[in-house]
Amino acid sequence: LADFPLAEIRLYDIDEARQNTIAPVVEKVIRDHSQSIKFTVTTCPETAFSGAHFVFAQMRVGQYKMREQDEKIPLRHGVVGQETCGPGGLAYGLRTILPMAELIDLVERYADPKAWIVNYSNPAAIVAKATFRLRPKARILNICDMPVAIERNMAEILECDRHDLEVDYFGLNHFGWFTKVRLNGEDVTEKLKSYVAEHGYMPQNAKSDVLHSDPSWLHTYANAKNICSAFHDYLPNTYMQYYLLGDEVVKSSDPNHTRANEVMEGREKRIFDAVADYRAGKDVDLTKFFGGVHGEFIVDVAMSLAFDLRKRYLVMVENNGAVENLPSDAMVEIPAYITDRGPEPVRVGEIPTFYKGLIEQQEAVEKLIVDAAVEHSYEKALMAFTLSKTVPSLLVAKKILDDMIVANKAYWPELH
Ligand code: G6P
Ligand code: MN
Repeated sequence: LADFPLAEIRLYDIDEARQNTIAPVVEKVIRDHSQSIKFTVTTCPETAFSGAHFVFAQMRVGQYKMREQDEKIPLRHGVVGQETCGPGGLAYGLRTILPMAELIDLVERYADPKAWIVNYSNPAAIVAKATFRLRPKARILNICDMPVAIERNMAEILECDRHDLEVDYFGLNHFGWFTKVRLNGEDVTEKLKSYVAEHGYMPQNAKSDVLHSDPSWLHTYANAKNICSAFHDYLPNTYMQYYLLGDEVVKSSDPNHTRANEVMEGREKRIFDAVADYRAGKDVDLTKFFGGVHGEFIVDVAMSLAFDLRKRYLVMVENNGAVENLPSDAMVEIPAYITDRGPEPVRVGEIPTFYKGLIEQQEAVEKLIVDAAVEHSYEKALMAFTLSKTVPSLLVAKKILDDMIVANKAYWPELH
């Protein structure tokens, strides 16, 4: 708080009951740090955004119940079931594109004209693509904590502080590679590559981390070894398992109990139980919910925007030549210096054929799903589902899409 002084924090949600459940605990956390910060809880966008300087956004359209559908419907057809990758991510994208545009409009109507939206809403790759297309002038910066979480594991492997690492990276969100890792300037890429080829991103003496310590996440971190031991150029983002090891991922998934169930029965329940204890007057250790790099990272990015710190972070930006041989309108995830005018991306140069081919395919999938939302086009949606590397054929794509139309009736734009 000394580094990032705040006058007021507002919580805004359209789900009033959920918000009212959480709010007293948030207030306690704030009060533990400061008596003077004003705290407001609201479901009114005008109250939420008037005069705001920063909007930290994370919406989950359809909540965990729909995440469960995104994961289970593809698995019923033998295809990867994941909230942001493959058909699940496309379904989530179709739910989120238009509400994100609405959110931008509300912020533009009420907030300070220089306000930044720092956005974690998933599926971030599709959200970034859609917001740039629909609201090209919006002051929104789309970010993801996965690379930072991987860097945290790299730091544990190297027994150093993650803040002392600097990385080179290219890709789309949840679809990319670390090309260099430096520890206080020293190149440690080869060292990490040989470690990851053997153990994945599993440190030997992992400190516990609340967000990513469930068995499914440990499997994900470990799985990087199967990619790294085959392709030796770079260090993959963990999400590459869904595209390069899809059959293995399907085999190790339970179609009746997916990550959404794990979250609802695990993290979400633990939080709600703690909230209930707190409200019943019991002593609760709230600090045990502060795990993960998610919260730290969004504040770091906001501080660099606020104070022109020019810190180097991975963010989503329009490619615009940064990766020379990718489309200039692709929304790439690459390092950028974060200034008070926004991100200044680094130049990545040309990337090799294998990575270019994979990224172009995925980028086209994301473009097609945004087209489908904007044009209400069934055929474009079917093209997106068919083109996804996770889907074996047009026939399977059509079955999944048709099931998803039924499940998403309350959320999707109508497709014709
Ligand atoms: C990572 C990703 C986020 C994603 C989260 C899901 O942090 O970067 O985009 O939302 O994992 O984690 P969960 O524990 O809900 O499966
Ligand atoms: Mn992410």
